[in-house]
Amino acid sequence: MATFIVLLGPPGVGKGTQAKILAETTKLAHVSSGDLFRENLKNQTELGKLAKSFMDKGELVPDGVTISMIRDRISRPDCEAGAILDGFPRTPAQADALETMLSEFGSHVDVVPYITGDESVLIERVSGRWTCRAEGHIYHQKFSPPKKAGVCDIDGSELYQRDDDKIETVTKRIHVYLEQTIPLVEYYRKDGKLVEIDGMQTVEQVTKELLVALKK
Ligand code: AP5
Ligand code: MG
Repeated sequence: MATFIVLLGPPGVGKGTQAKILAETTKLAHVSSGDLFRENLKNQTELGKLAKSFMDKGELVPDGVTISMIRDRISRPDCEAGAILDGFPRTPAQADALETMLSEFGSHVDVVPYITGDESVLIERVSGRWTCRAEGHIYHQKFSPPKKAGVCDIDGSELYQRDDDKIETVTKRIHVYLEQTIPLVEYYRKDGKLVEIDGMQTVEQVTKELLVALKK
């Protein structure tokens, strides 16, 4: 049966960083709702333009369009063995929709690593982040700098700072997370799927704990 892993945690805690490492290790697809919206924006699609109007304010994109985008993505052949979901679900309605769509594929959510972190550290991480234009590879000016400033080590593309990484927008994103996404902690805890992981450790330590959680 396919394996579906939901990475839960606040903005900037390291979901994208860890999802990329886990996707390499497990060979599962990496599905990031934020990356999908940014890809749509780059291609100037209607969905991209709509998403930007919410992302720039640090608000969630409405459930309906978000759910159908993810349904579409996980129906693709590279998700047949499963996927690491990064940034989805983010509301109870999205979590219910995920259960429904996975049950249609004869599958379910296997494990939900919940990566935690303090607000001050999240802001420090997000404000020093540089993202690669081509593939979304993630760097930090202090914690994981690229070999050459402004250039991705992996594909040589330009590194940029996300529009929604301004301090006011990050603070809003954390607020929205506490209000709309935190209920998912109990949602998955009561199913016995939640595994709490301290995101304040180094990238390597967090990966190690995630791999232990995945083996369970
Ligand atoms: P999204 O792109 O998902 O952003 P997010 O959840 O706010 O999370 P981030 O991507 O900012 O952080 P991350 O946890 O991935 O951390 P990262 O690994 O980059 O969503 C953006 C927007 O899209 C939302 O605000 C919303 O508008 C919309 N959206 C997306 N999904 C949606 C949904 N399901 N429903 C509705 N709307 C949705 O790491 C951060 C930095 O820290 C990096 O610089 C990294 O190098 C560094 N770092 C990582 N780990 C460590 C470590 N252990 N030690 C030191 N530094 C570290
Ligand atoms: Mg991310």
